[in-house]
Amino acid sequence: MGLDLYGNLGELLRLDHDLGVSMLPRIPAAQPPPAPARAPATVAPSPAGATPRDPATLPPLDDRHLADLADGPAAEQLPQIAQRIAGCQRCGLCQTRRNTVPGEGASDAALLFVGEGPGAEEDASGRPFVGKAGQLLDRMIVAMGLRREAVYIANVIKCRPPDNRTPETSEIVACLPYLQRQILALRPRVICTLGAIPLQALTGDLRRGITRARGTVFTWQGIPCLPTFHPSYLLRNPDAKKTAWKDLQAVMAMLG
Ligand code: URA
Repeated sequence: MGLDLYGNLGELLRLDHDLGVSMLPRIPAAQPPPAPARAPATVAPSPAGATPRDPATLPPLDDRHLADLADGPAAEQLPQIAQRIAGCQRCGLCQTRRNTVPGEGASDAALLFVGEGPGAEEDASGRPFVGKAGQLLDRMIVAMGLRREAVYIANVIKCRPPDNRTPETSEIVACLPYLQRQILALRPRVICTLGAIPLQALTGDLRRGITRARGTVFTWQGIPCLPTFHPSYLLRNPDAKKTAWKDLQAVMAMLG
């Protein structure tokens, strides 16, 4: 995971420009956090233990449809989860999708990025973050001294909402068990959430705003999660890239 300064120099300088930072990143000499305890084989209920009484918390999840998925190595579990996603009809998005977008990456990834949901390019290709926002995410990953193939990239929502609208709460509730199973299979050392939707989905708190929460660590099933801005937001608000770069440096420090 070391930073190949010479190999990445051009990319880093380009990202220096993209992210509005004036120095090449330094890999901080932080100690890696202790490995989180192995999660139980079953999917946890709604992370906030939420009840539908509070409309600002996610209602309990129904993950019975995944109860038969066997525990096992991530390399075996992830394709099974992707297969379930491919046949999913748990919400109306199945009627308008071209492809499901389960996520992709290394089954032994130490770092998991979680976005909101597929856009047009992702819907067409079945791959996460391949459009303009994905190109910026790729450069962010390279600037961190990592390779896209070495991390895992997934979304809360696995099917494109029409016209790229924000996913509805019912769609998040229907889809979240897939992400949760992916996380439990992967057990990454760190999760970097991109934008408000994955922050809200993994905290269960629909009121949580990204501007206040970014850069502050929360945990899901013992795994540290660091929220930062979504690359699409950074494309629209280049001034925020500097702040996002600080968040990514914090992620790098957590990875050690
Ligand atoms: N935005 C997301 O949140 N996810 C993608 O896969 C692409 C764009």
